[in-house]
Parts: sequence; structure tokens; C-alpha cells
Amino acid sequence: MNGPETVAGWLARAEAFLAERGVPEASANAEFLMAEVLEVGRGRVLAERAAALSQRNSMHFWEFVKRRGRRMPLAYVLGWQPFAGCRIKVNESVLVPRPETEELVTLAVSEAEALGRRSLQVVDVGTGSGCVAVALAKRLPTAQVYATDVSPAALKLAEENAMANHVSTRVRVLREDLFKPHSGAAWADLAVSNPPYIPSAAVDGLEPEVLKEPRLALDGGKDGLDHIRAIAGDARRLVKPGGRLVLEFGSGQAAAVARILAKAGLSQVRIFTDLQGVERLAAASV
Ligand SMILES: C[S@@+](CC[C@H](N)C(=O)[O-])C[C@H]1O[C@@H](n2cnc3c(N)ncnc32)[C@H](O)[C@@H]1O
Repeated sequence: MNGPETVAGWLARAEAFLAERGVPEASANAEFLMAEVLEVGRGRVLAERAAALSQRNSMHFWEFVKRRGRRMPLAYVLGWQPFAGCRIKVNESVLVPRPETEELVTLAVSEAEALGRRSLQVVDVGTGSGCVAVALAKRLPTAQVYATDVSPAALKLAEENAMANHVSTRVRVLREDLFKPHSGAAWADLAVSNPPYIPSAAVDGLEPEVLKEPRLALDGGKDGLDHIRAIAGDARRLVKPGGRLVLEFGSGQAAAVARILAKAGLSQVRIFTDLQGVERLAAASV
């Protein structure tokens, strides 16, 4: 393949190509793709700028760049995403784990620790890639985590991620529809969820990268709150008395979420901001 010879030359070509196609942060994206090809961290790429890129690596790099240029999310092109200290495999059947969801994990861990229970039964509702379930299993060494979803492809990936992150003995995937309420005695100490919460009418207006993610992971119904209503309504059948529910929701939904949780009979409803100062998380006692 003809093209520039050095890493710097390929980076410049990729940056121009990606920028022309409207990819935000084209330069950083080119560096992440190069880092993957060179099997080094992004910081190391700059140190390699003057090095020649082999023909094999040039072809590999340009394949990545073309996919990213079609507005495929960077994480899908790379096949993985860092999340809360874990390496999470991703593909088009799951949402790309977001940095704000790492804050959901932090909040869930502090809620779990506040319970002070020796053994913990945790459920992650709508697990997708399994990022939350895997990170919780890592941070809560005595927890048994149940990772639920309706998507068999997502559950397969969640299982792979539990295995790759060495927590498969404590993460069990379950195909379960949260719109089918639980029967039997409540068993969980902590329920966590980052459910779909985008209002249906807003989904089509999202960035091209987000539209490559499964609609099932995004669309929260007319006002975006269908899944949150279902989880809140089911919380007392799922979580033991005194246990906790921790949720992520969308910007502008805090007041409605607090109302839904209170109406479902949950107590100590608290709303938390993310690192940008936006109200995005809720915790409540069951
Ligand atoms: C916003 S994604 C979150 C994925 C992952 N937990 C994360 O934080 O990156 C929501 C997930 O809920 C799942 N989901 C949608 N409807 C569901 C339902 N009725 N029951 C269970 N899971 C559902 C989707 O398949 C998707 O994986």
C-alpha cells in the first residue's frame, strides 16, 4: 500500500481523513488507533513518530481508520474499552461503557459497603457488556453478582468479560426481562442499573456513533423513564428490606426519578451529581 512511511506521516494522513468525515477529536482518535496497531499505550505513540511503519501495520492501521471514518465508535473499532480499571470487550451488540457509569460503580460500592453485610447478593439490571457487574465483582470481593439482560448477544459478551477479568466465579449472567416483575421472596442486597433512558423521539437525533449502538440500550420510551419506572416498581420484590437501589439516569431527569422512587415506596432517596456537576445518579433504600 502506498502512503507515508513514518508513524507521524500516517497519523497526519489519518487525522485529515477523519476530520474530513466529521469525526470529533480526529487527532486523538488517530493516535488511539495507532497505539492499538503498535500494541503500545497512546503516550508511547508520540515517541514512535519518526519510526517507519511496516507495510502490514500500515494496512492494519488504515483498515481501522476507514472504519472510524464511517463513524463507527472508537471502542467498536478497537474491540475494547477501559472501564473502572477493567478491560471490557465490546461489539455492536452492546453499549460502549461510558466514563460517567464508572461513577455509578463508585456509588454502588459505597452503598454496598454502608450496608456492612458479610456476603452480598448484587444484581446489575441491563448489564450489556457486563462492565458494571464485572467492576462491582472486582471491587466487592465478597459479592455474588447477577448480570441480567434481554439480549443474548450482550449476555455472551458479559460472560466473556467476567472470564477475562477473572471474576467469572462470582458473576452469573441471566436472561431476564425487567418488564416481567419478580415473584418469590426478595433476595438481593443491592440492585444497580444503568438502564436505557433516552426519550424515543430523541434517539434518532443522536450522534452518528451513538446510532451505531443498539437501540435497545438507548431507548427508554416516550419520556425516557419506562425502564426506571419498571425497576422502581419491582425493587421491593427484588431487593431485601434495608437493601439499596442505585441508578444512572439522563440529564434533566433527576426530579422525575426522585418522584418515581418515592412513589414506589423507597426511602432515603438521594440524587448525586457526576464529575461535570450534572445530576445523573440516584440511590434509595428499600
Ligand atoms: C444503557 S445500556 C447499559 C449497559 C451497561 N450496563 C453499561 O452501563 O454500559 C442498557 C441495557 O439494558 C438492556 N435492556 C433493555 N431492555 C431491557 C429489559 N426489558 N430487560 C433487561 N435488560 C434490558 C439493554 O440490552 C442494554 O444492554
